[in-house]
Amino acid sequence: MKLEDLNDVSVIGSGTMGNGIAQVFALHGYKVNLIDIKQELLDKAINTISNSLERFLKKEKITREQKTMTLNNIKTTTDINDIKNAQLVVEAVTENYDIKVRLYRQIDDICSPDTIFASNTSSLPITKLASQTKRPDKFIGMHFMNPVPMMKLVELIRGFATSEETGDFIRKLSEKLDKVPVEVNDYPGFIGNRLLMPLINEAIFTLMEGVATAEAIDNIMRLGMGHPMGPLTLADFIGLDVCLAIMRVMYEGLGNPKYYPCPLLIKMVEAGFLGRKSGHGFFKYDK
Ligand code: CAA
Repeated sequence: MKLEDLNDVSVIGSGTMGNGIAQVFALHGYKVNLIDIKQELLDKAINTISNSLERFLKKEKITREQKTMTLNNIKTTTDINDIKNAQLVVEAVTENYDIKVRLYRQIDDICSPDTIFASNTSSLPITKLASQTKRPDKFIGMHFMNPVPMMKLVELIRGFATSEETGDFIRKLSEKLDKVPVEVNDYPGFIGNRLLMPLINEAIFTLMEGVATAEAIDNIMRLGMGHPMGPLTLADFIGLDVCLAIMRVMYEGLGNPKYYPCPLLIKMVEAGFLGRKSGHGFFKYDK
């Protein structure tokens, strides 16, 4: 498929990443089908997109017409069969291998054999996910960063069987979306999370050991190292459940004890302290 022929995009999963991805495609003129299992999740997603666009509008980064066009370009649906005409499916469902595989097997039968599947997985193996479909050559990792509308990077992960054509298509598409694609090979955590998550995990260890307060740990990295957010604020922002899932994938996939998730991280996730989305993580938030 040529890039100029692409107009029908489906994004599955309307959470933090999915709604941001839908927004970016729609802002760049693509018609997007945003799919989730409940209409209330989709309504929330549209509200988030509208707020995000309003912030860009206030900062004069977009016009009111662009805001209207973006919202008009997004259709929501809870019927998975609505992806049948999609030329590209971007999957951004929960970071769980079994859930993703079940979904891929289902959509493999609904979509045309030409449809490209791009997974926004933050660490699961692309090769293994691709092998569960009948189109491993048209399967690729397209890993956006949070907040998707603001972060420039897209990590592109080619699986063992991903074709050159698919890789080139997604690379050019990312550039058209005003992102910067960076290609990496398919190893657990890729590059972004392999470097970021051990930092976050170590910050949690230092908190657990009482080396400093959460505020102090974050201040040290913000003011001393120039990080825009301290590691604990960033963990809350990403979601502690997501951080834990990624640490586990790296611990199991790379077989190295240095990726062992901090017990405090495990305990907080078990307690439902998931960061911003639950109103409480290392810090407190208005939900
Ligand atoms: N759309 C969406 N979110 C927006 C936004 C917009 N138009 N404008 C601002 N935000 C978000 C910010 O995240 C934050 O939330 P609240 O105000 O609601 O608390 C807030 O809005 C900050 O607004 P500012 O105008 O002050 O934004 P800023 O210029 O200070 O930059 C930031 C915010 C870009 C997020 C910056 O803090 C940053 O770069 N933080 C680090 C982000 C990061 O590391 N992301 C990668 C995470 S890892 C990942 O995503 C991979 C994975 O697999 C887990």
